[in-house]
Amino acid sequence: MIKVITTFCLLALFGLSNADIQANKLFELLKLKRSINSPIPNTWVMSKETTKEYSPVYSAQQDGLAEGDKIDALPGQPAGVNFNQYSGYVTVNQTAGRALFYYFVESPTDSSTKPLVLWLNGGPGCSSMIGAMSELGPFRINSDGKTLFMNDYAWSNVANMLFLESPAGVGFSYSNTTSDYDHSGDKNTAADAYTFLVNWLERFPQYKNRDFYITGESYAGHYVPQLAYTIVSYNKITNQTIINIKGIAIGNALIDDETSLEGMYDYWWSHAINSDATHKAILKYCNFSNDSSSELCDKSTDKAWDEWGDLDLYNIYAPICLNPQRNASTTTGSINVFDPCWQYILVDYLNSSPVQKALNVKPTSWGVCSDVITWNDWETTILPIIKYLISNDQRVWVYSGDIDGRVPVTSSRYAINTLNLPIETAWRPWYLNKEVGGYLEGYKGLLLITVRGAGHTVPSYQPQRALTLFSSFLGGMLPPSS
Ligand SMILES: *[C@@H]1O[C@H](CO)[C@@H](O)[C@H](O)[C@H]1NC(C)=O
Ligand SMILES: *[C@@H]1O[C@H](CO)[C@@H](O)[C@H](O)[C@H]1NC(C)=O
Ligand SMILES: *[C@@H]1O[C@H](CO)[C@@H](O)[C@H](O)[C@H]1NC(C)=O
Ligand SMILES: *[C@@H]1O[C@H](CO)[C@@H](O)[C@H](O)[C@H]1NC(C)=O
Ligand SMILES: *[C@@H]1O[C@H](CO)[C@@H](O)[C@H](O)[C@H]1NC(C)=O
Ligand SMILES: *[C@@H]1O[C@H](CO)[C@@H](O)[C@H](O)[C@H]1NC(C)=O
Repeated sequence: MIKVITTFCLLALFGLSNADIQANKLFELLKLKRSINSPIPNTWVMSKETTKEYSPVYSAQQDGLAEGDKIDALPGQPAGVNFNQYSGYVTVNQTAGRALFYYFVESPTDSSTKPLVLWLNGGPGCSSMIGAMSELGPFRINSDGKTLFMNDYAWSNVANMLFLESPAGVGFSYSNTTSDYDHSGDKNTAADAYTFLVNWLERFPQYKNRDFYITGESYAGHYVPQLAYTIVSYNKITNQTIINIKGIAIGNALIDDETSLEGMYDYWWSHAINSDATHKAILKYCNFSNDSSSELCDKSTDKAWDEWGDLDLYNIYAPICLNPQRNASTTTGSINVFDPCWQYILVDYLNSSPVQKALNVKPTSWGVCSDVITWNDWETTILPIIKYLISNDQRVWVYSGDIDGRVPVTSSRYAINTLNLPIETAWRPWYLNKEVGGYLEGYKGLLLITVRGAGHTVPSYQPQRALTLFSSFLGGMLPPSS
């Protein structure tokens, strides 16, 4: 049932039994990624800005469909659920028979005035049900893989949360034209997600003029800014729906390949998971702004990947999943202890037929990351889009769990530094419950904010700090300085 990914996922389901597989897989992924680089950094900003003529996106009648998407109850959900949940498919291309799956959670209080927030996980090719059921959604799954418990720090406390599985071929999202899976990439992902939103807003018209934000993590450092860019630029010329977008927040996000690699190896060395000699060799032999690598550089980076051993790179201080069957486990879930076997738990739960029935989907072999899609275009840097969003008055927050070794805080800092934005709020700690929740630095148009003690999937490890950060983001205020 478990799907092993074949693409170069930043967040992947690997290692059916040991962490070696994980390291090897990642290493192959990194190399593969290098060889497919297509250096076309500015095409997004150029292409749409010069398009004066709007070509309408597919849009279909959605009347009455929301009621059919309503979830009565998810199997195993606890008592006392006081909010609405919906899920189902939205067709984005009728000719191809392509539909994207969403899960939507309304806020228990004042849902009619709270903002609408889209959440996207990364990969490329990983499911946003990760976010919904292992990070920031209203429930987490117990280690039995069957029952749910409440997440007191769900982001739906402060917003109406929409989770989208994207692109087609990921999770429950599909295409009847399976050759679509061979044409996956940044461009088609953004285009389909945009068409999804236009149609979803017809299905839920009460959200049409609502303040709208996009959030996500990891490879969604591509998806989120690219979709925001699509919306902002289409808003200027569309005769269809104007989407009231206000900003984006991206976590441990891949936004610039070159600085990301530099930041990653520096982090590995400075966090004592690499040797001095290996790090020195990387500094000496690697040039990450050059797409074609050298043999000596490859040798050094191979060594760097080897040196850290059986570690969860996505949270270098976390335990690893030693018992994926979870038959020895007597513990039930706790919001404060994140189960390292979460991927297996998620796979168990979402592949149960009553759960799929409740989610209004057809029988599907659901996987954490897709094993059917092939990625064709990958922007080497998202920084030009970030600049575009800033200059179009979008709120841009870049947050980072500071114990992630995959897209670490150093990578985010190096990337932001290349923008040379003036500093408006000097580096300072922010607080929650009298403890340092993390640090922040405010630039003109962009906030960098860290979450202390969080891995790659920030809300999984630090749910309360993550909710404070998210509420501050929506309110457009910095979290407390004392
Ligand atoms: C629908 O998808 C097919 C590929 O399956 C593509 O050729 C066609 O252009 C798409 N139609 C629209 C309106 O985007
Ligand atoms: C895909 O094909 C199935 C079976 O013909 C059909 O029921 C379904 O509506 C199609 N999906 C889309 C998005 O058109
Ligand atoms: C929107 O503009 C397109 C292209 O100019 C046109 O074909 C279409 O009919 C317009 N739709 C509406 C609803 O005005
Ligand atoms: C790294 O590569 C880039 C081009 O890919 C080149 O312009 C630059 O000079 C190189 N840097 C060093 C230190 O060799
Ligand atoms: C990039 O690296 C390759 C392999 O080391 C080298 O042959 C080439 O000259 C470099 N290009 C630049 C512009 O530095
Ligand atoms: C758990 O399952 C594994 C593999 O099936 C088995 O080797 C082990 O003995 C089981 N442990 C318990 C406590 O049942």
